[in-house]
Amino acid sequence: MGDTAKLILQDQEYELHVRVGTEGNRVIDISKLYAMTGHITLDDGFANTGGATSAITYIDGEQGILRYRGYRIEELAERCDFLEVAFLLIYGELPTAEQLEEFRQGIRRRTLLHEGMKDIFRGFPPDAHPMAILSSVVNALSIYCKDSLDPLDENQRQLAMYRLLAKMPTIAAFGYKQSVGQAFMYPQNHLDYCQNFLYMMFALPSERYHINPEHVEALNLLLILHADHGQNCSTSTVRMVGSSNVNLFSAVAAGINALWGQLHGGANEACINMLEQIVAEGGNIGKFIDRAKDPNDPFRLMGFGHRIYKNYDPRAKIIKAMADRLLSKQAATNPLFQVAQELEEVALKDPYFVDRKLYPNVDFYSGIIYRALGIPKNMFTVLFALGRLPGWIAHWREMHMSSSKRIHRPRQLYIGYPERPYVPIVKRSTEPPKEVSIQRPPQGVFPGGEFEL
Ligand code: ACO
Repeated sequence: MGDTAKLILQDQEYELHVRVGTEGNRVIDISKLYAMTGHITLDDGFANTGGATSAITYIDGEQGILRYRGYRIEELAERCDFLEVAFLLIYGELPTAEQLEEFRQGIRRRTLLHEGMKDIFRGFPPDAHPMAILSSVVNALSIYCKDSLDPLDENQRQLAMYRLLAKMPTIAAFGYKQSVGQAFMYPQNHLDYCQNFLYMMFALPSERYHINPEHVEALNLLLILHADHGQNCSTSTVRMVGSSNVNLFSAVAAGINALWGQLHGGANEACINMLEQIVAEGGNIGKFIDRAKDPNDPFRLMGFGHRIYKNYDPRAKIIKAMADRLLSKQAATNPLFQVAQELEEVALKDPYFVDRKLYPNVDFYSGIIYRALGIPKNMFTVLFALGRLPGWIAHWREMHMSSSKRIHRPRQLYIGYPERPYVPIVKRSTEPPKEVSIQRPPQGVFPGGEFEL
């Protein structure tokens, strides 16, 4: 086992450095490959590409292991509160009592939004998706927080991190309140992070609001379990966008958009939709399993499968146990939980899923808990974003503090036309290009007449 890899290209031999991670995983460093050989590597979807060196989160997908800064997720989920884990992810160590208090204070005193921002919410139509609202308003923080935009200044970085951790729950809850036509509930800074979020979501100016401690516990757990997961789609987006030295708010707004997609954080909403559909259609699990296996059907079992985990996602195990605890207190059986468990049981015995090592992921049971907390479906991914925020911040900070930081700029294998002469418009082919379909909008769709609003 040497620490170089040999590559033979057109009869010429090159040596590539092999780097070894702290857990023994070995990577071939190709950063000098182009300079050495004139070749780049190609890896669609980055399935086999390390985009960063990172000391934040360790995942062993084969064994189903997840650790934040060396600590097992099971232990952190049992013993910590969310801000403690946020501190750990961002700064690398569990905080002392004093450090934690300072961290909490730094966040607690910044939960309010500029009053002008309320008009931004008011401008959105009531059916706007809360993820679109979240990313828009988080981006708008870069308009209101101008003294914390420089990612190269540690003081401004620190201020931006506090502000975002403090204001994102307020933005998320205001977005929800706007969508249901209720008054914005201002943050109550004597409450802790999770209590405050539940208060802003569910309290009404006209009623006393009792914060259910079991709901606080469940929310705390879910936020911790979502807090980081290595170079996933949204985190690598935050790194990619942040690498241009844009401010934290804009980089995280981009990450929120990446998270929204159904193949990533949007799977929790899609998963509940799927479970509801199964229940509505009389619980015919077999039909959905068959559809998921059919190569001609784009349907996939939502909340199943993972690029990295080829074993049970450790987060799904913890979430399932929490769902069990929370729902056991309800008088009636929860049909969605029941169907989910049956679906899991059938899938885990089916050779299609076994052969492909497809197991429940973090999104499979999380929606069932959100539902039990009264969180509406279209807010599920927003909750995921609140949980993932410390991870995004930690990666953004780690990138900016790295001496090897460069703008992210992947290359490509060009497969288009070679150079060809310009064709004047009268001589162009009347055949429509294969890849272009220009469709006229149906008549009369624009309420304003000829013009779209
Ligand atoms: N249902 C049915 N088949 C599946 C599923 C699924 N959920 N997931 C993967 N497969 C199949 C694929 O069809 C493919 O089969 P094939 O080899 O016969 O072509 C094989 O398993 C490998 O799948 P890929 O799409 O190549 O795996 P990839 O790593 O690219 O995708 C992903 C991972 C996107 C998570 C995928 O498993 C999926 O779409 N799952 C459902 C959506 C979901 O739950 N997303 C949340 C992920 S966790 C998170 O982001 C927080």
